[in-house]
Amino acid sequence: MPTPADKLWRNARLATMTGDRLGVIEHGAVAATGGAISYVGPDAGAPDAAEIIDCDGRWITPGLIDCHTHLVHAGTRAKEFEARLNGATYEEIARAGGGILATVTATCAASEEELIASALPRLDQLIGEGVTTVEIKSGYGLTLDDELKMLRAARSLGKVRNVRIRTSLLAAHAVPPEYKGDPDGYIDLVCNEIIPAAVGLADAVDAFCEGIGFTPEQTDHVLAAAVAHGLPVKLHAEQLSNQHGAALAARHGALSADHLEHLDRAGIAAMAASGTVATLLPGAFYFTREARRPPVQALRDAGVPIAIATDCNPGTSPMASILLAMNMGATFFRLTVAECLRGVTVNAARALGIDGGTLQPGKPADLAIWDISDPAELVYRIAANPLHARVFAGQ
Ligand code: NIG
Ligand code: FE
Repeated sequence: MPTPADKLWRNARLATMTGDRLGVIEHGAVAATGGAISYVGPDAGAPDAAEIIDCDGRWITPGLIDCHTHLVHAGTRAKEFEARLNGATYEEIARAGGGILATVTATCAASEEELIASALPRLDQLIGEGVTTVEIKSGYGLTLDDELKMLRAARSLGKVRNVRIRTSLLAAHAVPPEYKGDPDGYIDLVCNEIIPAAVGLADAVDAFCEGIGFTPEQTDHVLAAAVAHGLPVKLHAEQLSNQHGAALAARHGALSADHLEHLDRAGIAAMAASGTVATLLPGAFYFTREARRPPVQALRDAGVPIAIATDCNPGTSPMASILLAMNMGATFFRLTVAECLRGVTVNAARALGIDGGTLQPGKPADLAIWDISDPAELVYRIAANPLHARVFAGQ
């Protein structure tokens, strides 16, 4: 007799996310043992278990993964939003010292405990939608101490909630005021001091390659320093203009290039060759009223995996809903239901370089159980939440 599993969810319909679509198993079951999935398959062949949960025909997906957020930050930018309604642009506000730098001032003034407390409601909203893994970036500190404070706050969130946190160091997010006129001096600080100090606290390094961020040359230094310290890289690329950042990121073997509204064919080819995931952020596209859509069909044609994330941040995407991000991915970017779901599971895991995002033996037993009759309902409804239950590490 095989040893019984710890828990078994039976009488379910499974979207395993294996293969190239949803990997559906009707009349399915999932078992977990020691926090990992130990069985996925037909109900009829399921093992015995210490605890058996009847899912009454509900759908089970892998726990959702939000692979691009700025969840840890202080303050609000509601006044900037109002200024934009009155005609100012995101870039104008940034160039006038607002934008990212406004959040930097508030974040530097906040204690680590205050950052944790203010991020919790946003994290809880994601958890309430079946999210089991969240990537969180620094980037509102811009000093050694404040960047590390943000990374520690992000890591602490994984201790106070049942969620996996992946951290990305985004020290190269904006030029801090004290380096105005000497951005290269700040890049030296990032490469020579902040990146080395973040080893062990950051799971990846990110940067903002943009006219209002850093040049491709400066970005290149940051990514090279990260790789030299054994850290994988990601990049905010081609959000407001084409800086050829995605191709640059791909040259460093980036896990993902993110935003990509202004991505060109050469960038797509470079991403395809390096296996870099295209992380699309429809919340930022919507909130900044970006006119240009990312080249979705060309990404598909090139076989570049597509992820979707909330980009939850106070300036361009004040949104902590992964379900809404999926809906926007479908409506604005014309992604299919399968692409939206793969974008917040298997491809999001790939964008983070982690094992997960599918229902397969050996993967973490992170599940979302849904009160839906078809997976399309997860993408179709606006501001609805059909989560029935969430399972983290088999619990
Ligand atoms: O992903 N593009 C740069 N970073 C963020 C915006 C940050 C902010 O405006 O505070 C983004 O859109
Ligand atoms: Fe971002």
